[in-house]
Amino acid sequence: MANVTNREPRSQERWNAVDRYIADHLLTPEETALDAALRASDAAGLPPIAVTPNQGKLLELLARVQGAHTILELGTLGGYSTIWLARALPAGGRLVTLEAEPRYAEVARANIADAGYGDVVELRVGRALETLSQLVAEGAGPFDLIFIDADKANNPGYFEWSLELSRPGTLVVTDNVVRDGLILDPDADDPSGGNATIRGVRAFYEMLAAEPRVSATAIQTVGAKGYDGFALAIVQEEPEPS
Ligand code: SAH
Ligand code: DHB
Ligand code: MG
Repeated sequence: MANVTNREPRSQERWNAVDRYIADHLLTPEETALDAALRASDAAGLPPIAVTPNQGKLLELLARVQGAHTILELGTLGGYSTIWLARALPAGGRLVTLEAEPRYAEVARANIADAGYGDVVELRVGRALETLSQLVAEGAGPFDLIFIDADKANNPGYFEWSLELSRPGTLVVTDNVVRDGLILDPDADDPSGGNATIRGVRAFYEMLAAEPRVSATAIQTVGAKGYDGFALAIVQEEPEPS
């Protein structure tokens, strides 16, 4: 057990132990078995940057609260978050997920099929700015929930396309909007993607602030993935000018 008499809360060891405590109590054996996708991703050499099990469950619960029938995900990696989100869908529901790296997409396809969601999930391989524009051209959407979790430098563009693929009531969830607090420093270099990541995340906040069609907040998180956060934005009718 972690040393809980030490009052220093800012330790990765403590966050890991509490994340495990939460998972041990609140994930069912069936939910814990979804870790198979993480093990397969690891074995295939994918980077260990999927959401944590507790965060995956949060995504599923958000999609259920939202009553989502259609979900769009940007950044599939090995399909772990995809599978959690797909679990929320009712019969006839659909999930489209976008991934740039063909090697990751191949691993994800197998993981998604193994989890039983091969017929529900459509995986499109390509740079998301391109596959998003194709989705719009096809008249896809509106999606009930959109999860933005690809290259953070492009978050502003992803948010623009997400609005195109939304309706009033759509929930847009964005991962990695705190990055250890590095977002406070416009010149910071993020371990993933350097300064472009921080610039992209900060520009995304500016867009949320300036966009009358969304109401948004962000929640800071700690856990096995360190100190980071999720942004939540609800699309609403554009307010009448006053
Ligand atoms: N959502 C996943 C993690 C995604 S990691 C999970 O939690 O399980 C970010 C992913 O975005 C990586 O797989 C990376 O290859 C992908 N990515 C990076 N740039 C991209 C782009 N331009 N278009 C689409 N995907 C991209
Ligand atoms: C990292 C974490 C993520 O959740 C992500 O989507 C991309 C990169 C990281 O810690 O490097
Ligand atoms: Mg992420």
